[in-house]
Amino acid sequence: MKKTKGTGVMLFGMFAIIVIIAVFILAGNGAKKEAASKEIRVGLLLYRGDDTFISTLRSYIEEKAKEYERTEGIKVTLDILDAKSNQNTQNNQVDRLLELGCNALCVNIVDRFAASVVIDKAMAADVPVIFFNREPVEEDMNRWEKLYYVGADAKESAVLEGKILVDAYRKDPASLDRNGDGTVSYVLLEGESNHQDSLIRTEWSIQTLKDGGVPLEKITGGIASWERSQASAMMEQWLTDYPDQIELVICNNDDMALGIVEACEENNISFDSLPIIGVDATEKGCQSVADGKMAFTIYQSGAGQGEYLIKAAARLAKGQSLEGMEYLSEDQKYVWVPFEKVDKSNVSQYQ
Ligand code: GAL
Repeated sequence: MKKTKGTGVMLFGMFAIIVIIAVFILAGNGAKKEAASKEIRVGLLLYRGDDTFISTLRSYIEEKAKEYERTEGIKVTLDILDAKSNQNTQNNQVDRLLELGCNALCVNIVDRFAASVVIDKAMAADVPVIFFNREPVEEDMNRWEKLYYVGADAKESAVLEGKILVDAYRKDPASLDRNGDGTVSYVLLEGESNHQDSLIRTEWSIQTLKDGGVPLEKITGGIASWERSQASAMMEQWLTDYPDQIELVICNNDDMALGIVEACEENNISFDSLPIIGVDATEKGCQSVADGKMAFTIYQSGAGQGEYLIKAAARLAKGQSLEGMEYLSEDQKYVWVPFEKVDKSNVSQYQ
């Protein structure tokens, strides 16, 4: 009898201790969750900080993070690292940011075919990743449900660009076919050779012109890696090799278009007789359109993408899904922020 009573007291004591420990653990977890919902840490990895569009996007991301803090009352710590075009550097940066305790990573991958290393690291740490601007291959994107992509649909920008040119040609063929020989002779400047935006913008701008019935002849073209100076050097050469023959210059981005403008100014080429087209609507690109140098550009919304990245990263950092967010694809992995046309008539809205 005595023995039974003692055992009962002991069992009750043990039970009480277990309950107390459980209460402490639950309280601790609650406090952690509470902390996570009051403060989030986002790692931002850039392929190259001195790229014009990327540095604009970065500024918007910083601005939107501050705005989010103000409106939501949640502290956002942004850790920003520049890989300077080196994928190994970026892989090490991912390790560092995971060690720092980032709750979500926004990755502008250097080599879009080498995303698997970053994905392995994020999966091991169970930290969601939003890739942006440089799209990993589908096979990699499908490796985990916590992988997302925010960008702009390159085909959309190219088709928009092509249609503007088709309309101009239909209205007045001489606006593009200056020498009246029945074909529009063009040169084309591409960004990086493996970048989805170079490949798709190139393909669809030309395809749209062909579909629209514009007779075309490609004089030459080159890869200028998004850079103004490389584009300018190429154009200098082409103006010597093909004097008075180039009737249209299509560039995969504004920086390269600005390089073309520079070369034309050096060679006293009139902008009225040579339409130069870009993409991005950067500050300098817009100025060039306003000055009547570049004919038009297509606005890639750094503000839109920046805001989206912060909002999406915050949701994921808090363990929520992206469901219900604008522009989200059906599979809830891809986000395409729309482009807009910018010419002399509306450029002031973008400056
Ligand atoms: C493109 C943009 C280019 C360059 C590139 C970098 O979307 O148009 O100017 O910034 O991204 O990945």
